[in-house]
Amino acid sequence: MADPIIIAVPKGRILEEAVPLLRAVGVEPEAAFSDEDSRALRFHTNRSDIDLIRVRAFDVATFVAHGAASLGIVGSDVLEEFAYSELYAPVDLGIGHCRLSVAEPAALAAADDPRGWSHIRVATKYPNLTRRHFEARGVGAECIKLNGAMELAPVLGLAPRIVDLVSSGRTLKENGLVEVEVIAQVTSRLVVNRAAFKTRPEVVPLVDAFRRAVEVRDAA
Ligand code: PRP
Repeated sequence: MADPIIIAVPKGRILEEAVPLLRAVGVEPEAAFSDEDSRALRFHTNRSDIDLIRVRAFDVATFVAHGAASLGIVGSDVLEEFAYSELYAPVDLGIGHCRLSVAEPAALAAADDPRGWSHIRVATKYPNLTRRHFEARGVGAECIKLNGAMELAPVLGLAPRIVDLVSSGRTLKENGLVEVEVIAQVTSRLVVNRAAFKTRPEVVPLVDAFRRAVEVRDAA
C-alpha cells in the first residue's frame, strides 16, 4: 500500500473547529488528536490511508509546501505572509475567523489618528504582510519580528504598536491595548501541495469532499 496521505492541522483553537469538518469528510481522528495533553504529533484515523499531524500554524504551510504533508489547514494570514508557490488553496473552510489588526496602548490611542501616520514601528509575526499593507497606503512600517507575546512589546518599549491576530479581543484587553486599524479578515483554508494534487489520486476526491462538507454546513 502507498504511504498514507498526511493532513497537517494547526494546534489550538483551529483544531477544535477542524475536527467536525474532518468528520464530515469521513475522517475520524483517533481520540488523542483532540487531547491537548497528548504529546504525540502524528495520529491515525479511521482511514488507514490518511494520517494527521498536529503542528504550529506557520509550520502547516511549510510541511505542505515541501510535500511532507499533502494537505493542510492554514489561516489566510499565513498564506499571505509567505506566498508559497507550491501551495494551492482551493477551499475557504470558513473556520478560524479572526482579523489581523494594529493595536496600541489605550493611552496612545486616545490621541492617535492612523490616517496621519507616515512611519510606524510595530512588533509582529507578520512583517511581510504588514509592510505590504502599509506601503500600499504610503506608510513606512518598521517591523520587529516576534514569534508570540507581541502584547508585551509596547509596555516594554520594544515597539509602540503591534500587528497581531484578534479574535475575541480578550488578549488585547488584558494587556491594556486597543485595536486601531484592521489589516485583513482571516479564515482558514484547505491547502494542497501542487505536486501531490497531480500525483496522488486520493487527493482530488478529498479536496472535493472538503468543498462539499463546507457547502452542506453553510446551507444548514
Ligand atoms: C492569537 C493571537 C493573540 C490571541 C488573540 O494567539 O496571537 O495572542 O490569539 O485572541 P483573542 O482576541 O481571542 O484574545 P494564539 O492563542 O492563537 O496563540 P499564539 O500566541 O501561539 O499565536
